[in-house]
Amino acid sequence: MVARLEDATPDDAAVVAHIYREIFPEDAHATSAEDAVAYVHEELARPWTRMRLAWDDARSAPVGFAFTWRVADELHVLNVAVVASARRRRIGLTLAQDIVEHARGTGIVRIHLEVRQGNAPAIALYRGLGFVETNVRRRYYGDGEDALEMTLDVG
Ligand SMILES: CC(C)(COP(=O)(O)OP(=O)(O)OC[C@H]1O[C@@H](n2cnc3c(N)ncnc32)[C@H](O)[C@@H]1OP(=O)(O)O)[C@@H](O)C(=O)NCCC(=O)NCCS
Repeated sequence: MVARLEDATPDDAAVVAHIYREIFPEDAHATSAEDAVAYVHEELARPWTRMRLAWDDARSAPVGFAFTWRVADELHVLNVAVVASARRRRIGLTLAQDIVEHARGTGIVRIHLEVRQGNAPAIALYRGLGFVETNVRRRYYGDGEDALEMTLDVG
């Protein structure tokens, strides 16, 4: 399946928040539906946020999203996520490739992210795009899991 990607708009906030809570239930922004919608609206209002949605034409709701922050000449990946029922169909790859292409076209020199050390699918996805591990941040997550920092130089 090749997903169609679009920029998210405030009209998408409720559906993005719904998916966000499904995929990241432990996240501080996922405590309630209202908090999650407010969080998505806040992100959409930030000039440095880019939020992309992946649509599968056979479904009425998005099947994935990616949030990034531009910080000077670096891009920070907050998350790339695909609903469980649509995984392993290259949608995560399409979203991640879109981030890299966007960075290359807009003067970004480096893409940076943190990922749970036990998140083998995401680590494999990023490695496949050329990201390399640069550091381990001990007990980075609220439940005590370490984060792997990964970087891709694009400049
Ligand atoms: C990580 C995630 C986005 C991958 O999305 P996906 O659409 O299922 O992945 P794709 O089909 O595009 O796979 C692309 C590559 O990622 C890797 N990958 C994806 N899922 C994998 C799995 N379950 N096991 C091992 N490798 C996996 C593979 O290298 C794959 O390439 P291949 O198909 O040639 O083997 C998805 O599993 C997800 O949403 N997970 C929960 C949210 C999350 O952890 N996000 C990342 C941290 S923010």
